[in-house]
Amino acid sequence: MNTLYAQHIAQLQQRTENALSRSGFDALAIASGIEKFAFLDDRPYLFQPNPHFKHWLPLTQHPNSWLLIRPGRKPLLVYYQPDDYWHVPPSPPSGYWVGHFEIAIISDAAEAAAHLQGHGRLAIIGEADAALAGVTPNNPEQLLHLLQYPRAFKSEYELEQMRAASRCAAKGHLAARDAFMAGASELEIHRAYLAATGHTDRDLPYTNIVGLNEHCAVLHYQYQDAMAPSQSRSFLIDAGAQVNGYASDITRTWSRGGHEEFEALLAAMESSQLALVDEVRAGTDYRDIHLSTHRRLAAILSEQGVVKMSAEAIVAEGVSSIFMPHGIGHLLGLQVHDIGGFMADDTGAVSPKPEGHRYLRLTRKLEAGMVVTIEPGLYFIPTLLKQLRASKNAAAVDWAKVDRLLPYGGVRIEDDVACRAEGAPENMTRDAFAALR
Ligand code: GLY
Ligand code: MN
Ligand code: MN
Repeated sequence: MNTLYAQHIAQLQQRTENALSRSGFDALAIASGIEKFAFLDDRPYLFQPNPHFKHWLPLTQHPNSWLLIRPGRKPLLVYYQPDDYWHVPPSPPSGYWVGHFEIAIISDAAEAAAHLQGHGRLAIIGEADAALAGVTPNNPEQLLHLLQYPRAFKSEYELEQMRAASRCAAKGHLAARDAFMAGASELEIHRAYLAATGHTDRDLPYTNIVGLNEHCAVLHYQYQDAMAPSQSRSFLIDAGAQVNGYASDITRTWSRGGHEEFEALLAAMESSQLALVDEVRAGTDYRDIHLSTHRRLAAILSEQGVVKMSAEAIVAEGVSSIFMPHGIGHLLGLQVHDIGGFMADDTGAVSPKPEGHRYLRLTRKLEAGMVVTIEPGLYFIPTLLKQLRASKNAAAVDWAKVDRLLPYGGVRIEDDVACRAEGAPENMTRDAFAALR
């Protein structure tokens, strides 16, 4: 771990020095972030750290700290440790990262300014509210491009954190599945997930999506019903874990009660998802995987008799987008939707989305070290089906079958996949589940 971390820091230092010289700055200051409060209230929102700060340090609950990067020098961590008897302040610096930093402890947030000034032309990455006297975040665009484009290429240290995040979430997913099979409510399932991962809601990389029956069709279903439905037919859980600031993002769909048509869909989606994972290869354009998803989905819709049109026509007419109205996935890392998905290069040039696919979040060519999600879905979403019913393709749809499947909501299966320099990808999620068997 220590060696991997040392390599990670050395690479970040080199990348940053290069970015500073190309963008005309002498040093870089990175704010860890600040706590934000509800309007007219003294209750803070959940703290969201600056991902650029987390890139260097496994510190996720440390508002008002700063990092200063100077060419040829050890990075300086200005570490905020207030004397606060209302809360537990950050503990004294300890862990595998400590030896890689000069550390200055401050107990008043304003004291950071003195450490950050006097280093020449300073690039400052942070939210506007993080400003201190004489230290105003300027977020230079060119520098951000230079840092954000290569963030997609994970170091071995980062890959290790992400494998661990998949392993942690996999435990939660199995506990959640068991709770569903036992007839638990969404809230009980959510609690079973948290108990198995050892996470609280605060630790999750995004709000868990825990849906039963029709709720499986709500892409970002945000509630957890405390009452179990009278009959639990299907269950979709999209839930991750966080390790040292790195996320996993995993979805599984389960069925209970053996509805033949829904189970056939589940099985077809499972093999299609595995085939799509296998398309994660260096040199492949991620947009092509998205388009391949629509062809595979169309084949399923056609073969299973949901839409009586050829697979080609289903794609051409946009019918597959009614059943999968989101992208095949995204970059994953420090953020669940990691930044940089549309960058053509490190200058900020944009790689466009394919026409008609506005929700795709990644349009880059895949390269070794990129971690992406592969998350095909097939849903029965009433508001989109209404559009289909009103279209010229309505007659091709087996509406009786759709009505039988509506109470199941839909299917999504999502794995976290690392692209290798050559050959088949690493499926971090399937590896994690396999290790639990
Ligand atoms: N969990 C959100 C997503 O899958 O993108
Ligand atoms: Mn995802
Ligand atoms: Mn997800």
